Amino acid sequence: MVGRQPGILNDALGAVGNTPLIRLNKIPQQFGIQCNVLVKCEYFNAGGSVKDRIAARMLDEAEQQGLVTPGKTVIIEPTSGNTGVGLALACAVKGYRCIIVLPEKMSAEKVATLKALGAEVIRTPTEAAWDDPRSNIMTARRLAEETENAYILDQYNNPNNPLAHRVTAQEIIDDVTAVSANQGPLTPASSPRHHVTNLNSSSGKVDVLVAGVGTGGTVSGIATRLREDDHNPDLFVLGVDPIGSTLAVPASLNELENGESGAYKIEGIGYDFDPKSLDKQQVSAWIKTRDEESFDYARQLIRMEGLLCGGSSGAALAGAMRFLKEGGEGYDAFGSQQGKNVVIILPDSLRNYITKPWLIEGTKEEQHIA
Ligand SMILES: Cc1ncc(COP(=O)(O)O)c(C=O)c1O
Repeated sequence: MVGRQPGILNDALGAVGNTPLIRLNKIPQQFGIQCNVLVKCEYFNAGGSVKDRIAARMLDEAEQQGLVTPGKTVIIEPTSGNTGVGLALACAVKGYRCIIVLPEKMSAEKVATLKALGAEVIRTPTEAAWDDPRSNIMTARRLAEETENAYILDQYNNPNNPLAHRVTAQEIIDDVTAVSANQGPLTPASSPRHHVTNLNSSSGKVDVLVAGVGTGGTVSGIATRLREDDHNPDLFVLGVDPIGSTLAVPASLNELENGESGAYKIEGIGYDFDPKSLDKQQVSAWIKTRDEESFDYARQLIRMEGLLCGGSSGAALAGAMRFLKEGGEGYDAFGSQQGKNVVIILPDSLRNYITKPWLIEGTKEEQHIA
């Protein structure tokens, strides 16, 4: 992304992608972290999250293969909400009926957005394991069998989920390499959005990628592209998984301590099964996060850096800070090294959580969780 092309977009789907990469200026510095910590702000996508990319791509590919037809096919998808919003947006633009099946835990704000986009919404019990007939995945499958002309794009198994993030990765590469090539001062003619004038130094590549993991499409797709020979085969990838989820490796990381219930409030990350869209080979190390620290870091991103992100962004930052600060596993190789570039994915925005206690009441919610 060396610069946004001027021009008029065909429709809202044209505003998916080309999200900004922004340097953090305060939070890592509090910990004495020396490297550049950059956040990829996926909440700037048309529907408000990283999942707009996969929704648009999965639907495009299915259309090209003749699997779905506007005005005829009913798109059904089990999701934690953001893929649903991305699909509902694409369905609104293209003219599909859309049914989204999501667990009760997911926010009322996501449901309101889905309904405003014209999607039908079905809620399922949060506690149902993925293979329980009451789960959102199983309910969506049953519904698809019962509904004429129904089609599930299936983000958990669809190769276009990780593939969509080759583009995300390319945008990051373009921005990081543009920064190392251009460290001059802003001029009136230069676009402020694409210039960082005072990076002390830059390795010219992404050294560490940090992402919260749900379907795994984001982390797997971005890491695969960044690791190619023309960028950085030595990329370090940190996967962030909430306590209570079983995605992390080794499995011992997922064991609960005495008295821990395994329930977590952060939305969009963590599962009780391994989705095909997650390529665990791409993840160098995993870190487990708690709700309280994740919400605390999300609030810091908002209040200190002006980044209007959601809870899973806070989880990713929590993982990154623990890894990079002194005493963390990544301090010697990255956190203490000027010029190393760490990219953290911020998947969605506070729009999805505007009435959530963690956002509006802050510390009260932390006491409640504890
Ligand atoms: C808020 C949020 N964060 C993180 C993720 C994880 O992304 P992925 O499914 O690509 O692993 C999701 C996925 O739905 C999400 O909604």
